[in-house]
Amino acid sequence: MYNSKITGLGYYVPENVVTNDDLSKIMDTNDAWIQERTGIKERRHVVRGDGDTTTTMGVKAAKIAIERAKIDKDDIDFIVFATLSPDYYFPGPGVLVQRDLGIKTVGALDVRNQCSGFIYALSVADQFIKSGMYKNVLVIGSELHSHGLDMTTRGRGVSVIFGDGAGAAVLSRSEDDGKGILSSHLHSEGQHAEELSLIAPGMGKRWVTDIIEDNDPNDESYFPHMNGQFVFKNAVVRFSEVIIEGLKANSLKPEDIDLLVPHQANLRISQFIQNKFGLNDDQVFNNIMKYGNTTAASIPIALTEAWESGKVKEGDLVVLAAFGSGFTWGSVVIRW
Ligand code: UT7
Repeated sequence: MYNSKITGLGYYVPENVVTNDDLSKIMDTNDAWIQERTGIKERRHVVRGDGDTTTTMGVKAAKIAIERAKIDKDDIDFIVFATLSPDYYFPGPGVLVQRDLGIKTVGALDVRNQCSGFIYALSVADQFIKSGMYKNVLVIGSELHSHGLDMTTRGRGVSVIFGDGAGAAVLSRSEDDGKGILSSHLHSEGQHAEELSLIAPGMGKRWVTDIIEDNDPNDESYFPHMNGQFVFKNAVVRFSEVIIEGLKANSLKPEDIDLLVPHQANLRISQFIQNKFGLNDDQVFNNIMKYGNTTAASIPIALTEAWESGKVKEGDLVVLAAFGSGFTWGSVVIRW
């Protein structure tokens, strides 16, 4: 049986920094509220018309990851792309990455699991490698939120939280037993699907021709909706459960964790988890302060930054965990 190992990591964020004070000029919000409730100080937004999209940001992150993996783009056997903000309704960005990177005609899969997207994508890639089907899988999480947010006071409960960016990993076959991805655990609870959702455009409720005809500027269904407190309460429970599940499956304990990289949903959620497991500041990596919540991109951006700053070392036990819309949640346990 083969093992799978992360051999390359990369991330890209747009240059344009949007501070909390910048937001307070266009909606009724303020730096104190945002920092106190979320920990966020600033986020990146793609400037309208500057050409960056979910795909192009994903490609930029992927190029760095491929170079660091010391492979050629044509060594990539499969692409998995996680996002909730695709360039097009269809096709998904996986094929656009295959085109833009000029990779031969390998398979490209799109994952739609929002904040848990990267965990799901990594798990899919891991199975393909462990089964022996592929040697190198490119896994990308990328989001362009800013073009789809309600940047008025009406949308402040959501729009101050989300930011743009992309992260990527190359997952490669390894015969180094006991190293690499040890396990992944995935869950969902569709009963709460609408608690964190973007209802339109979708084929479920309304005909496209009706939407065009209505052309209603007050139609909020085009903006993300979040029942913040309900999501928060579920997040802290599910994060904890799925981290314990991952540790137990490998006969490990919280004190064995060298680095926990949680999905960057809210600094208060990360701190709750840190306290619950008795982890010190060096054992948990957070960068939500700089980037906000970049959903599927948040874990690969954070993991790359952690790795670049020397916080991820050979032999370390690294735990990734996410929770979000769906609800979906999951964890990946890695021996680096
Ligand atoms: O990544 C996927 C998973 N996502 C999450 O895990 C997010 C989970 N939820 C949260 O992080 C938090 O619920 C939020 C940060 C979204 C909101 O924090 P909260 O402490 O739950 O605030 P709230 O929604 O209960 O709102 C409290 C007050 C309200 O005013 P009233 O009704 O008390 O007068 C809101 O209208 O804060 C008001 N408010 C704001 N005020 C200033 C909401 N958004 C803002 C804002 N600026 N941006």
